Amino acid sequence: MLRQQQAALLRAAHLGPAACQGSGLAAGYWRSQSSQAAPADSPVGPVLPPFDYVPPKYTGPSKEEVLALRKQYLSPVMIVDGKMQYLFDDKGRRYLDAFAGIVTVSVGHCHPEVNRAVIEQTQRLQHTTTIYLHNQVAEYGKELTDRMPGNLKVAYFVNSGSEANDMAMMMARLATGNHDLVCLRNAYHGLSEATMGLLGQHTWKFPVPQGLGVHHALNPNPYRGAWGNDGPKYAADVADLIQAATPGIGNGLPLAAVVTTPEIAAVMAARLHFNTYGGNPVSSAAGRAVLRVIDEEGLQENCAQVGGYLLDELRRLQGKHDIIGDVRGRGLMVGVEMEPAVAEVAQVFERCKDLGVLLGKGGLHGNAFRIKPPMCWTKADVDFLIAAFDQALNEL
Ligand SMILES: Cc1ncc(COP(=O)(O)O)c(C=O)c1O
Repeated sequence: MLRQQQAALLRAAHLGPAACQGSGLAAGYWRSQSSQAAPADSPVGPVLPPFDYVPPKYTGPSKEEVLALRKQYLSPVMIVDGKMQYLFDDKGRRYLDAFAGIVTVSVGHCHPEVNRAVIEQTQRLQHTTTIYLHNQVAEYGKELTDRMPGNLKVAYFVNSGSEANDMAMMMARLATGNHDLVCLRNAYHGLSEATMGLLGQHTWKFPVPQGLGVHHALNPNPYRGAWGNDGPKYAADVADLIQAATPGIGNGLPLAAVVTTPEIAAVMAARLHFNTYGGNPVSSAAGRAVLRVIDEEGLQENCAQVGGYLLDELRRLQGKHDIIGDVRGRGLMVGVEMEPAVAEVAQVFERCKDLGVLLGKGGLHGNAFRIKPPMCWTKADVDFLIAAFDQALNEL
């Protein structure tokens, strides 16, 4: 059924220029938003906010060739360009990005300041490892920990969320002398062997020995959780001394960090510890540029304002569509939990994509939309997302 719907959507998306002209709206819809010629597959629907950027013409291998190369996971969208909160496919069609490369592109795709820092550092020195001193990693460590609360003053740089969590687990065990770990049910922490053992979703667990000493606590889900939204009850066991930062600190570059106190960091002095690429000059330069951009462009404030508006608008839609079970989040990290209706969720996900919004999807039952866009989203972007989401839900 789903496959048929998808095929129908794909067929509709591939109507030729004549079909677009016939409808009148489709071709004009695109032209009004962009100075470039209308791609043949522009749909009728809500109108993206104006944006003064035309990506260069794509000249790489065709979508078919790339699909053939990527047999395991076939995505009908091929994204070849990005600029701030927008992505562009091989035909130049613009999409609003609501998922930011799985929550990694924090300040915007190809942000000029991050690009400049990366290019400048790449031209000078790309990599040597931390066996030699380098100013970028030292300055980044200071600038990152200056922004951390309390005594979180030591940073270890690694390349991924899994590595950061592996390290946090090891530090916690070394510092306390205890072995057992508490993890939340349904939480995701990465797919290294250690983090696979830690995470609490069967979907991601391969049948290998894992999770020694891991205990899964109740998921503090305010909608489906055992204690509703009584946060302090869920939080009773949670210690906040070790924070594993998310990969968004590199704006898409492989960069993650564990930030902890000097006392806990001291446990690492007992042996040698080394990460070949962690904290290399280019990643560090990018990390520093991200911090600068967040400050200079007031992006945390933007997240609070635009995210508040997004939550209000989604809650308004919740009043209209029974299938929306819960809307929750903070800033521009928002979840929309649908009633467990997997086929409908998949259909809305696909329809939003066809209307020009790339959403994320997750949750234990695959029934939660993840809206975690770059921090530069505007209220006009929210209006576009809401219009597309509303239309997709109306069409169920
Ligand atoms: C909360 C969280 N922790 C850990 C990870 C794992 O990060 P990585 O895939 O970079 O290892 C992710 C990735 O999505 C994540 O969302």
